[in-house]
Amino acid sequence: MTFTIGRGNELVCSAIIHLASRILNQPLSSLVSNWGATWRHLVNDSQLRWIGPEKGVMHLALGAVVNAIWDLWAKTLNKPVWRIVADMTPQQFVDCIDFRYITDAVTPEEAVAILTAAEEGKAERMQEALESRAVPAYTTSAGWLGYGEDKMRQLLKETLGHGYRHFKLKVGGDVAQDRLRLGIAREVIGFDKGNVLMVDANQVWSVPEAITYMQQLAEFKPWFIEEPTSPDDVLGHKAIRDALKPLGIGVATGEMCQNRVMFKQFITSGAIDICQIDACRMGGVNEVMAVLLMAAKYNVPIVPHSGGVGLPEYTQHLSTIDYVVVSGKKSVLEYVDHLHEHFCHPSRIENGYYVTPMEPGYSVEMKPESMEKFGFPGKEGASWWRSEEAKAILEGEKI
Ligand SMILES: *[C@@H]1O[C@H](CO)[C@@H](O)[C@H](O)[C@H]1NC(C)=O
Repeated sequence: MTFTIGRGNELVCSAIIHLASRILNQPLSSLVSNWGATWRHLVNDSQLRWIGPEKGVMHLALGAVVNAIWDLWAKTLNKPVWRIVADMTPQQFVDCIDFRYITDAVTPEEAVAILTAAEEGKAERMQEALESRAVPAYTTSAGWLGYGEDKMRQLLKETLGHGYRHFKLKVGGDVAQDRLRLGIAREVIGFDKGNVLMVDANQVWSVPEAITYMQQLAEFKPWFIEEPTSPDDVLGHKAIRDALKPLGIGVATGEMCQNRVMFKQFITSGAIDICQIDACRMGGVNEVMAVLLMAAKYNVPIVPHSGGVGLPEYTQHLSTIDYVVVSGKKSVLEYVDHLHEHFCHPSRIENGYYVTPMEPGYSVEMKPESMEKFGFPGKEGASWWRSEEAKAILEGEKI
């Protein structure tokens, strides 16, 4: 499973076929026994690298292939993916990673040292994971642009009631309107009850616009501004971060950050306060493991991007790995309550925490009936995509 949309799916699916052909007929055991080398082999096709390398369509496809191997492997071991990694020695963890291009930020030897140091307290953190107290959730459900004041108030109160302590609001449409919305949010969640507010601009601003806009939201004390500008602009993020630091506002990005090399730059240059890895954008679990190590070394907390179908199912494993194995620090993970009914083992929240997944695999297997119903283009005549319901949705979204 990967996270794409519409016509983009077709490009990614054909890239998956090309990449997967590189490992066709190889036994699972040989793929995972030297994972770092398998990963390097998958990205080492000169014709395919020409249109990547390690980014865009090719990299989304790589993530799908790599994550599928993890899912299969976990099912043969009868463990959830997070547990495979939690049961590894530091050296086994490091052997999963292709360190090409990142040894200036972290070497395999340093990585072993980081993971060995993190073994202190690991047994306790593992116990917390088993009791579903490892990954606190946050929600964006009340924070979409376009919700009226009453709806916002009501949704915020509801989510507070469900045990959430972190709330994210979309911003960037209109500063007066956003000041009003953030005021309402603070009125409901308070300033000093340990409740945390975050804001997300989805790349709308230039660097100077981001700074002046956020200065006008500073009084509502957001923990961070997410995606203030272009996701490729490392120096721009650093400028924004430097300007907002005196106001106590952090900078977060990562959902469009394509690989460990870009993350190396964001992390080591001090451009971000929060690292928002995505489970599908990068080359699967192995590359995420590399980023977790760099983030731990530079003390940047991991708050994965998780706002999309199937993403919470994946990211719950990554946040659990980060807490139990790598950083040892509790962070938060986005949860969007949307379309989980199509998954065999949907992610769940209880008392404000993710319920740690215990089923074998990577939690993204979809129900056969959902696959059958929504497969595209579907059976001639009977396809959901030709139904009135689909038409209404597609026209509404102007696809
Ligand atoms: C990458 O591919 C080239 C030839 O296509 C080969 O010579 C090289 O050994 C490969 N490298 C790895 C690490 O697999």
